[in-house]
Amino acid sequence: MAWASFLQCVVLLLLCVHAAMASSDVPLYKNPEAAVEARVKDLLSRMTLEEKIGQMMQIERSVANASTIQTNFIGSILSGGGSVPKEQASPTDWMDMVDGFQKAALSTRLCIPLMYGIDAVHGHNNVYGATIFPHNVGLGCTRDPDLVRRIGEATALEVRGTGIQYVFAPCIAVCRNPSWGRCYESYSEDPNLVRNMTEIIVGLQGKTTKPGSPFLAGQYNVAATAKHFVGDGGTNHGADERNTLSSYKSLVNIHMVGYFDAIAKGVSTIMVSYSSWNGQKMHSNRFLISHVLKKQLGFKGFVISDWQGIDKITIPAGINYTSSVELGVNAGIDMIMIPFDYPSFHADMLALVKSGHISMRRINDAVGRILRVKFTIGLFEHPLADRSLAKMVGAQDHRDLAREAVRKSLVLLKNERNGNAPFVPLSKRATKILVAGSHADDIGRQCGGWTTTWQGQSGGITPGTSVLEAIKSTIDTSTELVYEQLPDSNFAKGKGFDYAIVVVGEDPYAEFFGDDADLTLPNMGTQTIKNVCTLVKCVVVLVSGRPLVVEPYLPLMNGLVAAWLPGTEGKGIADVLFGDYPFEGKSSRTWFRRASQLPMNVNDQQYDPLFPYGFGLTTAAVVGDAASSRSSTLLFFFTLVLCFI
Ligand SMILES: *[C@@H]1O[C@H](CO)[C@@H](O)[C@H](O)[C@H]1NC(C)=O
Ligand SMILES: *[C@@H]1O[C@H](CO)[C@@H](O)[C@H](O)[C@H]1NC(C)=O
Ligand SMILES: *[C@@H]1O[C@H](CO)[C@@H](O)[C@H](O)[C@H]1NC(C)=O
Repeated sequence: MAWASFLQCVVLLLLCVHAAMASSDVPLYKNPEAAVEARVKDLLSRMTLEEKIGQMMQIERSVANASTIQTNFIGSILSGGGSVPKEQASPTDWMDMVDGFQKAALSTRLCIPLMYGIDAVHGHNNVYGATIFPHNVGLGCTRDPDLVRRIGEATALEVRGTGIQYVFAPCIAVCRNPSWGRCYESYSEDPNLVRNMTEIIVGLQGKTTKPGSPFLAGQYNVAATAKHFVGDGGTNHGADERNTLSSYKSLVNIHMVGYFDAIAKGVSTIMVSYSSWNGQKMHSNRFLISHVLKKQLGFKGFVISDWQGIDKITIPAGINYTSSVELGVNAGIDMIMIPFDYPSFHADMLALVKSGHISMRRINDAVGRILRVKFTIGLFEHPLADRSLAKMVGAQDHRDLAREAVRKSLVLLKNERNGNAPFVPLSKRATKILVAGSHADDIGRQCGGWTTTWQGQSGGITPGTSVLEAIKSTIDTSTELVYEQLPDSNFAKGKGFDYAIVVVGEDPYAEFFGDDADLTLPNMGTQTIKNVCTLVKCVVVLVSGRPLVVEPYLPLMNGLVAAWLPGTEGKGIADVLFGDYPFEGKSSRTWFRRASQLPMNVNDQQYDPLFPYGFGLTTAAVVGDAASSRSSTLLFFFTLVLCFI
């Protein structure tokens, strides 16, 4: 079977190549040497209306198969959050699936390749075994755009390692209220920090070297998406998908400025926000999408809807679908993430064009933009997966990079001094230590939402190093480590612990599931802090997507670290806790005292935070410890050499 389909594909590719070589009628669009704009124009002139509508359609992998792709001329397919070819799918499983869809697209009349898109928002997070980087809120604390660019490069390689060419990232939302369930997807409440972090686009797509070529994604890069245009992080009470009430000026100065940078850096696509601006759904906002984004800001890539974003123009969603399609497409959306009911979309589009409700000019603008991206990223020349890249998924140098990102993202909020000696860094050579808490040994919890599944979940969901494992491999072998996930109030009594490390936080969530007005630590977290920290000197490591209410427990703690959602590489936490590296992170968010203060952001007139925006204590790396561990390594090798002599 596989052999037959391989042969079939070879024949089809040969036919395509043959068509391209038949000198008298070589379609210009197949000539990689021709200018992109000329190729776009040529291909558009050859397309039927149905082929054009097909290019505008993005459907979910679960409803895609060869005949669907061929009969509808589907232009794009996506994986929704957690939508995978099979449980713990390997890179090869992914490549086989994507290439299978691609071969169907390449067998259509004009051989137009499709783009496969996926949410790779902190590494290639749907893929089992991929490197999971800290979520954006933590990356904001690194203040390191170059690091973020390198994360983009590594993520692009892992995505290519599964045959995929397109990611729905970065989220450049400016989260103004941590009650929002997507706040961790935002680099900061400060638009200027978000602007700096758009450097990830350069890493994902590659740096454009050809003048006049707005975006680039060679075989080792991917097309990126700046999202969600615009005002997603400014909704009332931080309610997901709801209304951002603001003047045009503050919409631009807070929520839109990141798009200036994203466009200047050549972002290929921009995703529209579910939210409304002053009561109007962004998915129907022609002024902001067509006039401001495309005309004023000069965006030349394509605009994509969010998942069922067209349906959600009405409340309840989808009650007047035909009219929503008309509103959305006429607002300027080019590619529609349908994602399931493609027959309705297709029929509505045909009818709306035939009746003149949607103009051919609008269709040609949409399809021209989609083709421009496809040509620019080299999709026509390299439509199939590069099998040699499979080894990129979870590669060790990517894990090392994630570990660097973790240690630079950690924010030390409290560090008590005993005389001259700070509590942190902790000694590796204590007699006996306690590690406790719901998040101490849980990869799923330290990764958060958008990890292997949409919502994420507790447990060993993907390979990685938990905080507990990282501590074990860092402390001296002579140190006795006791691990108790949920110690009761007597557990630590009289056991002679030198100190305790308590790792607690939020359970994974994504989008509206994470909307939370109270922002208190879950009970098992506060209970563990009380049970341990009243008896033993303790540092609390908080694993959360946002600041939480900690003021009432702060006096119990000798040290407090905001670890955000660090991802799979827990060693980055041990690196700084034990002083092999200094704490350097500066909070990307204002740390409030009480939820009633929200929204409260840097530069507000009323500003009384527990820890202000930009706060973060530093420590020096413990030279002695690091030096002695180096010399013991040397000694080890020396002994090894002696053994061989
Ligand atoms: C392809 O998908 C369509 C729609 O989901 C379905 O009706 C059809 O049977 C499928 N074809 C194959 C060959 O699986
Ligand atoms: C953004 O980057 C510029 C240039 O490196 C720097 O001067 C500025 O302080 C950065 N802003 C923030 C908020 O990090
Ligand atoms: C659906 O939309 C059309 C066009 O905007 C409008 O005329 C019609 O009343 C709407 N129908 C419903 C049920 O809302």
